[in-house]
Amino acid sequence: MAKISWKAGTMVYPVPPALISCGTVEKPNVMTAAWTGIINSEPPMTYVSIRPSRLSHEIISKTKNFVINLPTLNMVSAVDFCGVKSGCDTDKFKETGLTPIASSHIEAPQIEECPISVECRVLEIKPYGSHDMFLAEIVAVDVDDKYIDASGKFWLEKTGLIAFAHGHYYTLGRNLGSFGFSVNKARLAAMKKMDKVDVMVKARKAVLLEDRAESEARPVSKPSKFARKIKSAEAHSSQKKFDGKKKFSKARGNEAPLPSSFAKKRSFKKKA
Ligand SMILES: Cc1cc2nc3c(=O)[nH]c(=O)nc-3n(C[C@H](O)[C@H](O)[C@H](O)COP(=O)(O)O)c2cc1C
Repeated sequence: MAKISWKAGTMVYPVPPALISCGTVEKPNVMTAAWTGIINSEPPMTYVSIRPSRLSHEIISKTKNFVINLPTLNMVSAVDFCGVKSGCDTDKFKETGLTPIASSHIEAPQIEECPISVECRVLEIKPYGSHDMFLAEIVAVDVDDKYIDASGKFWLEKTGLIAFAHGHYYTLGRNLGSFGFSVNKARLAAMKKMDKVDVMVKARKAVLLEDRAESEARPVSKPSKFARKIKSAEAHSSQKKFDGKKKFSKARGNEAPLPSSFAKKRSFKKKA
């Protein structure tokens, strides 16, 4: 396995393709944002980074409140639409059929169809370059009661939330285990019993058996897209940084349970 050092970029995925709603119920706007997340637990704080050119930037700068709505897979085309059309010339609620409804604590509307809406009040606007970060406190979280059972448990996994990674939208797939399972002997044993995982406790890695088989069998697709990366890797191979990474990966030996997909692509290139 070898890693290639690319220039700095925004390669932290997956992230939520959140629908950020703002304005008022009577005059709402919504935009898609991937640059959002949690920055503190207590008090709960969040952010959304928005380019100054967006209409949402103008609105939230004035009103100082917005809602982070988490969309589901049946909304994916609306999510994309709200990320390519501006409220300057399009009524995105009207075009997508999404419904703006009143929030409980702030003026900005939330989206009825989203199972989770997080109401936010802006604390600070920090300019960083391309984007301004709207640092905000979370003042309320509204969840669709359809997913709450009689005992009060919220079945998040039933909502169909989606993720965004490297230019594509994805469903979330399967539940691989709950928080802390890797150090819980009973839960690990139960998973092993179900033949669900091949647990390498030493490496603290749990690999779904069928995923590994699939990954090993996955054919290499188009080599052309990767040819440039290989070329650049070769060009950099004399550089100290790259040598260092190579040494590092050698030192790790065969610990990694999955073959590197890039290594496969490289071997394809050699054959081609
Ligand atoms: C998946 C996806 C993620 C996006 N993430 C961001 C983001 O984090 N920040 C941002 O400023 N624009 C982001 N955009 C672009 C805006 O959603 C887009 O420019 C939108 O038209 C702005 O709408 P508005 O002018 O009505 O505010 C994203 C677009 C897509 C499709």
